[in-house]
Amino acid sequence: MGKDVIIACDFSSKKDCMDFLAKFTEEKPFVKIGMELFYAEGPQIVKEIKERGHKIFLDLKLHDIPNTVKKAMSVLSNLDVDMCNLHASGTIAMMEAALEGLMREDGTRPILLAVTQLTSTSQERMTSDLLIDRPIEEVVVKYAQNAQTAGLDGVVCSPLEASSVKEACGKQFYTVTPGVRFADGDIGDQVRVTTPEKAKEIGSDYIVVGRPITAAADPVAAYRRCCAEFIG
Ligand code: C5P
Repeated sequence: MGKDVIIACDFSSKKDCMDFLAKFTEEKPFVKIGMELFYAEGPQIVKEIKERGHKIFLDLKLHDIPNTVKKAMSVLSNLDVDMCNLHASGTIAMMEAALEGLMREDGTRPILLAVTQLTSTSQERMTSDLLIDRPIEEVVVKYAQNAQTAGLDGVVCSPLEASSVKEACGKQFYTVTPGVRFADGDIGDQVRVTTPEKAKEIGSDYIVVGRPITAAADPVAAYRRCCAEFIG
């Protein structure tokens, strides 16, 4: 695996999601299913999208005691997802337990990524609410290193953090980056954005793209443009 465009399927119902995916008659994009769709439709939505031949990043960001996360990950792994994630702040022990839970009987497992600090958390909030007074970039890198120590495959991070994560953890450690916009497109509510081309330059392994594709007049053309700019 590596270097792919993942479409964030941020739909509130199965119908909207399936209508969207039906537009793709030639390619089978890698898709991200988030909490909204998963909680609305349940595990069945994962099975149905899998049956259509898509790879799935199940973005549920687990965070609980190690034993609970291990058991939950085992359930997700049996849904045959290709990628899933958790919060690195759950500690190395929780991340190790998650990996154990993900391992299937045949020795395969989904890619496991850690969320470091959410990009919605500012330096000020991290300091005042979480009492973490180190610079946010240092925290992100430390959490990425913890994830690597636990044996995870990479992190979800802002494109602006990807280079320092790669520097600290090496090229093989995946960086999966949302916040992608076309140079001539709408930014929407994202603040720190990058283009697919720039994400490629930075060394992102996967980009997660939602509205620039899902809200485009021609989503298939927008997806192809994204692939052309990011993968080349
Ligand atoms: O529509 P848009 O391209 O902004 O969607 C980006 C996707 O990536 C959404 O599903 C959003 O929840 C997710 N995401 C993000 N920033 C993060 C982590 C996840 O935008 N730090």
